[in-house]
Amino acid sequence: MFDNSKIANRFHPSERLVVFPGDCLEFLKSIPDETFQLVVTSPPYNLGKEYEQRIDLEAYVEQQRCVIRECVRTLKLTGSICWEVGNYVENGAIIPLDAMLFPVFAELHLRCRNRIVWHFEHGLHCTRRFSGRYESILWFTKTDGYLFDLDSVRVPQKYPGKKHFKGPKAGEYSCNPLGKNPGDVWIIPNVKSNHVEKTEHPCQFPVELIERLVLALSREGDWVFDPFLGTGTSVIAAYRHRRRGAGVEIQERYVAIAQERLNRTLEGTLRVRPMNRQVFDPRNAGRALTTAPWSDPTDGNVEPRLLERRAKYKAKCRK
Ligand SMILES: C[S@@+](CC[C@H](N)C(=O)[O-])C[C@H]1O[C@@H](n2cnc3c(N)ncnc32)[C@H](O)[C@@H]1O
Repeated sequence: MFDNSKIANRFHPSERLVVFPGDCLEFLKSIPDETFQLVVTSPPYNLGKEYEQRIDLEAYVEQQRCVIRECVRTLKLTGSICWEVGNYVENGAIIPLDAMLFPVFAELHLRCRNRIVWHFEHGLHCTRRFSGRYESILWFTKTDGYLFDLDSVRVPQKYPGKKHFKGPKAGEYSCNPLGKNPGDVWIIPNVKSNHVEKTEHPCQFPVELIERLVLALSREGDWVFDPFLGTGTSVIAAYRHRRRGAGVEIQERYVAIAQERLNRTLEGTLRVRPMNRQVFDPRNAGRALTTAPWSDPTDGNVEPRLLERRAKYKAKCRK
């Protein structure tokens, strides 16, 4: 299917991998209508991170509108667009960016198929609100004739041995032997300090998050496009499943990281966390440090007591 596996720096339909160093709107100008089967991205959140300048929220939404409009133009009629975002935060108050951006997609007559909640365990510890432990992926399609290959992403059933107990199918297995629909809440570790995929980029996608979208929403040989490529994750996920991948990144140092990770993908040496691996649980793994030294082993309900009887907690800690 593919004659070459080099990394091109501009788009041509015969390429397999494209990393364009520059601005996504500039790149999108060169793309014909209805080229990409899947557009998947995580844009800057306007938080003033090292790769973005904080601007007025309305101006931010307008910038996003320009990119989204171009992505929709370049999307195939069977295609999908997945926009992954978290919260905009100002003076400790949050504004969920998916709520801000939803009307932009609606104006363009896209149909929302899911608001996928991506839950993870690690992040900042807040003191004046609950710590943020999810972001969302808004999944839209251009038409009702969209591609959705559910079988390629099914996950194991909870009770695969369950049978119909009455009716004409009594005694037959009641669940789909290919597995169940993964649902719209995805529990996938985020890329923090000791994740095998971690680079110096502060906001990297885990490859497995994008792999599920690539498998369900595109076919082998299709184009997957990420306008805010960062470290190359979306293109890596596309390549791993025999899709074509194109992405744009404006910061030179992230372009270099994306190219380096893609080269290692081509050689087969890039380490990634496998899809559907169980989330690590230190208690099940029998790790030390999982039992609080101040707890009473005969009392399972330790934390409320900590709050109620601070003096006792201090005394036990000194032991
Ligand atoms: C949230 S990060 C994406 C990280 C990516 N998902 C990954 O796995 O590494 C957003 C990226 O968009 C890039 N960016 C910002 N404005 C851009 C623009 N106009 N064109 C292309 N890339 C841009 C930033 O430098 C940043 O790396």
